[in-house]
Amino acid sequence: MAVSNAEISEIVDGLSADPKQISPKYFYDERGSRLFDDITQLPEYYLTNTELGIMRDNIVEIVAMVGKQASLIEFGSGSSLKTRILLEHLSELAAYVPVDISREHLHASAQQIRDRFPHVDVLPVVADFTQTFALPKPMVMPVRNIVYFPGSTIGNFEHDVAIELLRVMYQEAGKGGALLIGVDLQKDPDIIENAYNDSAGVTAEFNLNMLQHLNRDYGASFDVDEFAHSANYDENKGRVVLELVSQTDQTFAVGDTAFDIADGEAILTEYSHKYTLDGFAAMAGTAGFSVEKVWTDAEQLFSVQFLTRP
Ligand code: SAH
Ligand code: AVI
Repeated sequence: MAVSNAEISEIVDGLSADPKQISPKYFYDERGSRLFDDITQLPEYYLTNTELGIMRDNIVEIVAMVGKQASLIEFGSGSSLKTRILLEHLSELAAYVPVDISREHLHASAQQIRDRFPHVDVLPVVADFTQTFALPKPMVMPVRNIVYFPGSTIGNFEHDVAIELLRVMYQEAGKGGALLIGVDLQKDPDIIENAYNDSAGVTAEFNLNMLQHLNRDYGASFDVDEFAHSANYDENKGRVVLELVSQTDQTFAVGDTAFDIADGEAILTEYSHKYTLDGFAAMAGTAGFSVEKVWTDAEQLFSVQFLTRP
């Protein structure tokens, strides 16, 4: 895997900050993508099943809003699990453009989509969607762009960055386009905390795998066994805080840069924000979108929202 100096600088800068932090995008090497898929199967991780249920229950209306001959551009497509429901019902689609940072996983998923939906023009893009990237040109000219951002991945970004990302999607959607987005909702803190502290320990493996990824691909020297997974829900801020907590006083390096970390000191690896419907509508509005439709499950655990450019 080609490693850029910009990525090394980003990692070193994050570990030089107080508190130490590493961007959640470094979760997703091939193993990390597989571990995320395992998380989606966990009984505690309500997000995926709830979102799938909302999609299935409302698919006729969703497909009508997407319309015909759209180009479906998915940010952070992973295994394109929820997209399959859309593709099964969208008979006329100009193209499907899955965008993801996890190269091997993206290409394998794109091939599975081609095999299952041979009539769809599948154009995968390996990119960090927080940076500028070029979109491929479909064979058929699309009538409109629909940006698809499921899974509440928006919640992994802090407020200002999330608004910036929504602005990028507003631009990508273009005139007459729209954003179909999965947004996790605030609820009983125990339900949320359990989703990130599963009894099988898969989320812990997913979190710790980030260090293995950095050791293998970025010249880091973490002693992975000397870190422990931690996930707590901060109810005031409406977000889960995922950390890797050092189990001893130790030293590690990333390339030529050495770091000390104390016993009990944490590296922040991810926020997962949970929203109120009003709070998310305000964020979307700041980015220029208006909320045209919100679908939720009966318990209001999760929402799927259709945002348009007024
Ligand atoms: N959309 C899927 C997967 C969510 S997991 C679902 O709803 O189940 C988050 C996905 O976003 C992963 O596949 C990860 O590789 C991708 N991802 C995370 N940060 C990214 C970034 N900065 N740029 C591109 N892809 C990213
Ligand atoms: C991808 N993202 C929305 C997941 C989440 O729930 O925030 C990542 C994750 N982290 C731990 N478990 C799942």
